Amino acid sequence: MTSVTASTVDVTPTSLRSQLARWPTGVTIITACGDGRPLGKTANSFHAASLDPALVGWCIDKRSSRFDEWVAVTGYAVHVMAGHQTDLVTRFAASGSDRFDGLDTMPGLDGIPLLACDVPLRLECRIADTFDVGDHVYLIGQVVTMTASHHTPMTIQR
Ligand SMILES: Cc1cc2nc3c(=O)[nH]c(=O)nc-3n(C[C@H](O)[C@H](O)[C@H](O)COP(=O)(O)O)c2cc1C
Repeated sequence: MTSVTASTVDVTPTSLRSQLARWPTGVTIITACGDGRPLGKTANSFHAASLDPALVGWCIDKRSSRFDEWVAVTGYAVHVMAGHQTDLVTRFAASGSDRFDGLDTMPGLDGIPLLACDVPLRLECRIADTFDVGDHVYLIGQVVTMTASHHTPMTIQR
């Protein structure tokens, strides 16, 4: 019989990030209207929150370069990304560049910029509530419009 030894790990921001990265998640790109230019960010903190009412949530890092604009949005669109869409996922995680440069978008709910490509699932949401959670802010959205395709969502796990 194989024996598995578990060890206690000190809880630090680095160890927590590293251990939680072992939890498999999907990957989303979240878009919204910013101050005169679109906002977009790769995020895997996205999750379901409530079915009735239809609520979802994700957390924005307070260190984000456009944090003040993100916490002022009145809505956002969640694009659940497919396995073949790594280029977009990488583009929307990269800092210091215009993530929308040369990218086709179309206006969605309340003018939110939507990625003009097929994704497994797109949810257009209005902000229902926000909470301060440590070094992040939790943005809860009420799902207003849902668009689904046959593509299989991407999953990541370290
Ligand atoms: C797989 C993955 C998941 C991420 N999830 C989140 C997230 O849930 N919330 C968040 O604020 N940033 C998340 N990030 C980081 C952002 O995508 C982005 O890189 C970071 O916020 C820096 O953006 P900035 O240049 O606008 O500050 C994630 C990055 C990756 C690669």
